[in-house]
Amino acid sequence: MGKLDGKIAVVTGASKGIGAASAKRLAAEGAAVVVNYHTSSEGANKVVSEIVAAGGTAVAIGADVSNEQEIAELFARTKEIYGKLDILVNNAGVYAFGPLEEITAEKYHREHNLNVLGLLLTIKASLPLFPSEGGSIINIGSRVNTVAPAKSVISSASKAAVDAITKVLCKELGPRKIRVNSLNPGVITTEGFVAAGLADSPMQKHYVELTPLGRMGEPDDVAFPVVFLASDDSRWISGELIIVAGGE
Ligand SMILES: NC(=O)c1ccc[n+]([C@@H]2O[C@H](COP(=O)([O-])OP(=O)(O)OC[C@H]3O[C@@H](n4cnc5c(N)ncnc54)[C@H](OP(=O)(O)O)[C@@H]3O)[C@@H](O)[C@H]2O)c1
Repeated sequence: MGKLDGKIAVVTGASKGIGAASAKRLAAEGAAVVVNYHTSSEGANKVVSEIVAAGGTAVAIGADVSNEQEIAELFARTKEIYGKLDILVNNAGVYAFGPLEEITAEKYHREHNLNVLGLLLTIKASLPLFPSEGGSIINIGSRVNTVAPAKSVISSASKAAVDAITKVLCKELGPRKIRVNSLNPGVITTEGFVAAGLADSPMQKHYVELTPLGRMGEPDDVAFPVVFLASDDSRWISGELIIVAGGE
């Protein structure tokens, strides 16, 4: 018997990286999982196949979660297939680094439209699917805005907004028995981390040196706390910003 038997979860951006690991861990505990993706149907289908092969339940649903219409369709499909929602993992996010002089409105909107506005619109659209018993919303923030390294201003600002959203919505959704927490990872080796040119970079070396546990983070290092926050093991925890960074 799993900790999440009978629960329905939506994980945004679950075709790879932290989202894919979270979808698999939630399913391993018994949740039926909607594996959301944007461009990588192949990645999402692979995650679904792995879940099903391990005896779990999952479906892949494509939707750009920075687009309000596509977000509405994601939850309409979820309702059609599973009838309700107990766990929402807002993982989809993009990040890039660069100096102030290179900031453009386009670069700003690319991150903030998804990481902040998309996350808010996703939570808003998900609410009617939560049952009267409530549920759990888990926002994937980042360690970046509290470390605040140079050349991270767009990304750090977007994740600082996620921290604020978690704190505010914990109060707003508490009366509906919906808990809202953030997991704020340090550096994690994922496809996105590699695509941002950060793998084997001086930044990676620097953070591994600063990390008491002495290694890079892995997607499962975040996925296990996702399961904890999704389950009743964390039933009295809401509004928290939990750093997941090996002690860094
Ligand atoms: N890796 C790190 O070091 C690190 C550290 C701190 C925080 N985080 C946060 O953790 C989250 C996941 O990061 P990651 O490194 O695992 O990323 P990743 O490997 O780049 O994966 C990103 C995922 O988000 C999806 N996605 C991107 N844009 C989307 C959109 N508009 N709508 C729906 N899905 C979208 C991608 O889908 P497709 O591939 O299908 O397009 C993919 O599944 C992000 O919020 C990130 O800020 C990561």
